[in-house]
Amino acid sequence: MSLREVFDKNPDRRYIMFGGKGGLGKTTFSAATAYWLAKQGHKVLVFSVDPQASLSDIFCMDIFGKGPVEIMPNLYAQEIDADKRIKEYQDEIRQKILDMYGMEKVPDEIEDYIQAAAAEPAMEESAIFDEVVDIVVGGQYDYYIYDLVPLGHALYYLSMASVYDQWIDKITALREEMEEYNKVAAVMKREKESEEDQILRELQDIKYRINKSSSILTDKEKTAFFFVVIPEEMIILDTQKAAGLFAKFDVPLAGYIVNRVIPAELANQEIPDYLRNRLAMQKKYLNKISQTFGDEVLANVPEFERDITGLPMIERVAEVMFGGGE
Ligand SMILES: Nc1ncnc2c1ncn2[C@@H]1O[C@H](COP(=O)(O)OP(=O)(O)OP(=O)(O)O)[C@@H](O)[C@H]1O
Ligand SMILES: [Mg+2]
Repeated sequence: MSLREVFDKNPDRRYIMFGGKGGLGKTTFSAATAYWLAKQGHKVLVFSVDPQASLSDIFCMDIFGKGPVEIMPNLYAQEIDADKRIKEYQDEIRQKILDMYGMEKVPDEIEDYIQAAAAEPAMEESAIFDEVVDIVVGGQYDYYIYDLVPLGHALYYLSMASVYDQWIDKITALREEMEEYNKVAAVMKREKESEEDQILRELQDIKYRINKSSSILTDKEKTAFFFVVIPEEMIILDTQKAAGLFAKFDVPLAGYIVNRVIPAELANQEIPDYLRNRLAMQKKYLNKISQTFGDEVLANVPEFERDITGLPMIERVAEVMFGGGE
């Protein structure tokens, strides 16, 4: 099957991700797929949480932290600025403290604590997580293309979703038990809504958001996850391992795309030995790729003469991925 057929045959798969090790072409393929889908008349958002701002680079436009930016008709790109979100959290916490205690200014000790908490890596992860959930739950686009950071992180995200989920399940169950007692107490005290109720509602809301986002990511009907590989031994081995891990988290794999294939026709021309050797090496690993991943290989993308930036280059990549035409 070709990549195009996979899209044509599964019109309900609206969440698209490209996974793979660093620098293999995830952002390039995300942008090219977004471009192709937009040209087909779908409203597409391609987004990333990468602080390197690689979508800004590929589209040659500064979009970092600016929300969804229109790149061309139907095509929107968004780069999440986690630091900005953390600052918003901090402001929220400060405001809550001021409101709760009727203070004019947050005391220094508490301010120190707020600063220290923001530097925690967990804080950044959770800010990113929240932003992704907001985007995915939003639902304004026909297609969402999540330009992932290298593999380890994507796995971390998924494992975090499941850890979060279990944790919230536990707390929610406890809260629900407590609520029964509290309701009685609240009625007796003639309070409208007990404080416990509010916490429970907040937890249920978080749980809803996490369930919704992780169920989207693991739903075969709605999600397509593609792996990017290149014809090199270590990459093939790593990809096999990663595919195993993804299966463990129930992430549905839609297929593999091979990148940076040196055009085989070059062998018929007069070329230096250096290039001839590279061609022979790639031939060996391309065979290995087809033995290993078989008909799950959906496209071969050549090594271009330059890097992929700007819409005309993105269009060329989209053409080889999906075939020319409309
Ligand atoms: N087929 C290709 N021909 C030429 N250059 C390519 C090709 N594919 C990718 N590149 C270039 O390789 C570099 C890395 O590609 P890209 O940024 O898409 O990888 P990535 O997997 O998103 O990396 P990261 O893991 O850092 O996010 C970019 O400069 C890109 O333009
Ligand atoms: Mg990238």
